[in-house]
Amino acid sequence: MKSEELIEYARTARKRAKAPYSNYKVGAALLTKDGTVVLGCNIESKAYPSTMCAERVAIFSAMAQGYNEFQSMALITEDGGTPCGACRQVMLENLGNIPVYIADLNGDYKILTVEELLPHPFQ
Ligand code: THU
Repeated sequence: MKSEELIEYARTARKRAKAPYSNYKVGAALLTKDGTVVLGCNIESKAYPSTMCAERVAIFSAMAQGYNEFQSMALITEDGGTPCGACRQVMLENLGNIPVYIADLNGDYKILTVEELLPHPFQ
């Protein structure tokens, strides 16, 4: 699947984000080895630390459905923001060194591998 197509899946996921406190919506789309796309969006809680990031929603959801091998991941935010540290750790432990397309709402994107996102990880 082309990177632009996976980014469009992430854009769909972002529309499902529940972010009434930060107003910062994040969409994620994770492409499994067999071509399935698993979506994630951030979901905030009134108890703020209970919020879950889009990346981890997608990864944990995919793994709960039995997917453990992945091809690529797309993320989209209003400003092309990169993943938080906690998500980078979870990505490194579960995705393999796949490319991550990090897009803004214009569809402009950069590509970073998981290992580029988290050098010198805790292992
Ligand atoms: N957020 C993500 O979904 N992914 C990240 O990697 C960073 C932050 C969410 C959490 C919260 O709902 C909002 O963005 C602002 O921090």
